Amino acid sequence: MRSVSIIGVGCTSFGEHWQKSLRELVAEAGIQAVLTSGLVGKDIEAIYGGCMASGRFIAQEHIGALLADQLGLNPIPSTRVEAACASGGVALRSGFLSVASGAYDIVAVGGVEKMTEVSTSEAAIALGGAGDQETELFHGASFPALYALMARKHMHDFGTTEEQMALCSVQAHKNGMLNPNSQFHKEISVEEVMHSGYVASPLKLLDCSPITDGAAAVILCETEKARKMGIPAVEIIGAGQASDSLALSGRKSLTEVAATKKAAEIAYKQANLGPKDIDVVELHDCFSIANIMAIEDLGFFKKGEGGKALEQGKTALNSEISVNPSGGLKCGHPVGATGVKQAVEIFEQLLGKAGKRQVKDAKIGLAHNVGGSGATAVVHIMRRL
Ligand code: COA
Repeated sequence: MRSVSIIGVGCTSFGEHWQKSLRELVAEAGIQAVLTSGLVGKDIEAIYGGCMASGRFIAQEHIGALLADQLGLNPIPSTRVEAACASGGVALRSGFLSVASGAYDIVAVGGVEKMTEVSTSEAAIALGGAGDQETELFHGASFPALYALMARKHMHDFGTTEEQMALCSVQAHKNGMLNPNSQFHKEISVEEVMHSGYVASPLKLLDCSPITDGAAAVILCETEKARKMGIPAVEIIGAGQASDSLALSGRKSLTEVAATKKAAEIAYKQANLGPKDIDVVELHDCFSIANIMAIEDLGFFKKGEGGKALEQGKTALNSEISVNPSGGLKCGHPVGATGVKQAVEIFEQLLGKAGKRQVKDAKIGLAHNVGGSGATAVVHIMRRL
């Protein structure tokens, strides 16, 4: 396989974009990515675009064709990738494989979701489709409810507390303050999280990622070609993906996401690195308990010790492992775009372009994106070229 690098990135702000359509979000992120790569549109040979549920959110399907059309890139092949909240991450891996295989030299990878056109309950049904419709959604188990079950089991088995989970959100909002693209620019306290009202006990409003509009894009290029172009680039040195049972009832354990462990194992092996080598991570914290499980499943802390690590400040910016400098999903989760936005953040971190949220001397970064309650997971490891 050939080596692949990211040579350009673009991202809209995340939030409630009442004035912008999905097409406009796509154009904003896509054009930014092309411009930062120094290329022009005609250099791009194919597009892979992550989008989870545009049919339900805005009654628009056929997003692959829409991307090429909106970006003025017809007639190149353009493919929509759907893997629930991991749509963006899986689109990135699809683009990576297409360049690694030699099929193309330069491709664009995008992710987009316009979620705020529908009510919260309609959004919950759309998102619930990422779980098992027959055994979960039809019986009222929304996404907060599924993660609440995992949280309860983690609390039962390891003594994890609601306060420890709250710390994930406190830290995310603190980092989000430093990110101009964050949905929230507001510091919160553990007390505020604890009093924010249960959505699905033990998860409260401020334990949840919000409903968000946004888009992100990256340009991938075969590494030798990128070197010759002499532009700042970030090489993807590991790309792992794994699947698991759609329903929680089919999982071996509720306190881990086995697909994350497998995807990480593959990516670490490809990169010939381990968890100790990672300086900065953008991980999938759709709910606070997901943050705790991810820092354990990615190997940064032993199973059951994630909550304590939060308490000891080991995942804060510029600590033992800098987790979610962007503010993570807690500061905006346009589901189809999230996995691509994570790669944008790691690119900026590794090139020292992350402004006030810059992780000092970040050399190796990891992006971790999960679909549903863990039926898909994808992990990318990157280093500065
Ligand atoms: N974090 C912080 N603040 C939030 C928030 C969140 N997750 N969700 C909403 N808010 C804020 C809003 O900005 C608003 O503040 P304002 O009154 O100052 O404007 C207030 O809380 C009420 O917002 P509203 O949109 O009415 O909330 P809601 O009750 O309709 O929705 C949730 C709240 C948690 C139910 C919704 O955000 C949700 O479903 N999140 C989970 C999304 C999800 O499952 N994603 C997939 C994960 S796998």
